[in-house]
Amino acid sequence: MNLHHHRQRFPRILFLSITLTTLCSLQFPIPTAAGKDRVPTPPLPVLPLPSFSQLKWQQRELIMFLHFGVNTFTDSEWGTGHESPSIFDPAGLNAAQWVSTAAAAGVSLVILTAKHHDGFCLWPSKYTDHSVASSPWKGGRGDVIRELAGAAEAHGGVDVGLYLSPWDRHDRRYGKNLEYNEYYMAQLQELLTKYGDVREIWFDGAKGSNAPNMSYDFADWFAMVKELQSSINLFSDAGPDVRWVGNEKGFAGTTSWSTINRTALSIGNDSIVDYLNTGDPRGTDWLPAECDVSIRTGWFWHKSQSPKKLSDLLEIYYNSVGRNCLLLLNVPPNTTGLISDSDVRRLRELRTAIDTIFTTNLAAECPAKASSIRGGKGGGFGPENVLDKDHLWTYWAPSDRELGHGHYWIEITCGGPVKFNVVRVQEAIGLGQRIKRHEIYVDGDKIANGTTVGYKRLHRLEKGVVGGRRVRVKVLESRGVPLVSSFGLHYDPYWHSKWQ
Ligand SMILES: *[C@@H]1O[C@H](CO)[C@@H](O)[C@H](O)[C@H]1NC(C)=O
Ligand SMILES: *[C@@H]1O[C@H](CO)[C@@H](O)[C@H](O)[C@H]1NC(C)=O
Ligand SMILES: *[C@@H]1O[C@H](CO)[C@@H](O)[C@H](O)[C@H]1NC(C)=O
Ligand SMILES: *[C@@H]1O[C@H](CO)[C@@H](O)[C@H](O)[C@H]1NC(C)=O
Ligand SMILES: *[C@@H]1O[C@H](CO)[C@@H](O)[C@H](O)[C@H]1NC(C)=O
Repeated sequence: MNLHHHRQRFPRILFLSITLTTLCSLQFPIPTAAGKDRVPTPPLPVLPLPSFSQLKWQQRELIMFLHFGVNTFTDSEWGTGHESPSIFDPAGLNAAQWVSTAAAAGVSLVILTAKHHDGFCLWPSKYTDHSVASSPWKGGRGDVIRELAGAAEAHGGVDVGLYLSPWDRHDRRYGKNLEYNEYYMAQLQELLTKYGDVREIWFDGAKGSNAPNMSYDFADWFAMVKELQSSINLFSDAGPDVRWVGNEKGFAGTTSWSTINRTALSIGNDSIVDYLNTGDPRGTDWLPAECDVSIRTGWFWHKSQSPKKLSDLLEIYYNSVGRNCLLLLNVPPNTTGLISDSDVRRLRELRTAIDTIFTTNLAAECPAKASSIRGGKGGGFGPENVLDKDHLWTYWAPSDRELGHGHYWIEITCGGPVKFNVVRVQEAIGLGQRIKRHEIYVDGDKIANGTTVGYKRLHRLEKGVVGGRRVRVKVLESRGVPLVSSFGLHYDPYWHSKWQ
């Protein structure tokens, strides 16, 4: 049956390929034997793959949280729900300052707490009077979300995300399943139809232990969000687009898979934090981790607190962005309605530090070679691809014949000795996350090793600065053949290793 079928189709395929070959050689004469003159294709992907929106999200690297609301005025973290709207009066609120602070820090997405657990709404919701409409700010005619959306649009390059707390300590419908789910969805509908594009929405799993029982209709919420904003990313402990990293320190696991089994996840479940932290090499869902942490001790602004030291923020950066995670850094506006000068300054220092370390790739001009090349030299998958500016779609791919031998490597050889203390490796995650174990060698000596790589892995060398000419990345284990999209050697002047 199959053979018959095959024979019938064969001439047509042959004809097609002759036609294509003729056409190709007319326009681009390639002096190789017939049958070998096609451009090699990329290897098959290793599933699951990121969606287009997830890929764009991952490339943001650093995004910003804005915790703001009645807690800002009561010096608390979790409001009781009994706060009077009369306390909300950020007389100098200027969302343009939030947006320009974010942009100067290299942040392309800011996420605002539209409603925190206290139930106070930063926009004039039609469905409650517990909002800015009952506050003295702007005579009750203000709308913080409109201010933010307007400022972001006017600035350009900074997108808006929103946080809407499921747990609500103010609204009387909370605890009545039908009524509260209807209320929550009505508010989602307001937030996702009135303010233009919203790129991420945050569903917080936090809930007090004495809170009334409440069963959230997550499936309905998620479906409505996607219907209203199809390219949005939904964040929760359990996705469906972006997952929590399992802690509020801003640290991903040293092993950090963007893949996980969604069926094993639930929202507000303490027993899954370790699984969330590392992900799962056999996971059936692409659900990358977001690392949330505050620039200060608390999430809301408190007069008594000040921003973390630059060295702590850099440690967070290496342990989040440098471990295949996105960093969601909280920067809380103060009671004036502005981001405090000390935080603005610290963010600027952080951006300067990141640029100082990573703008120069000390390996950029060093010739690269590899254990093998898919399709041979000139086929488009050579090791030189790891030194170009594209960190997603140009990459080194080894030959399929290497599969299973475990001897994949890529090596750069510089003209003279190079001094560095950071090694950067990136995978072509558009075709799946693959690397399970890798090692880095300098002139034959092992200087770093680890498990996963993912979108970005940064090794800040424990031993401090090393010098050498030949640097090799060896991949010991991977799902399918490894695909390395970028490689860099960097010098971090802020890193004072305990060995130095
Ligand atoms: C919530 O439900 C559980 C189990 O149904 C019950 O044991 C508990 O007392 C309830 N809590 C409240 C605050 O109603
Ligand atoms: C918490 O997660 C574990 C592991 O997936 C699961 O067995 C348990 O049922 C979950 N608990 C709740 C309350 O969803
Ligand atoms: C995740 O799902 C895959 C496929 O069903 C399975 O092989 C793997 O064991 C699961 N992971 C865990 C931790 O259960
Ligand atoms: C809030 O920050 C701004 C600087 O951006 C500052 O001028 C103002 O005094 C601060 N307000 C308070 C209450 O600290
Ligand atoms: C890294 O190397 C050390 C020392 O050789 C070893 O103990 C450790 O298991 C290695 N880690 C990985 C992830 O391979």
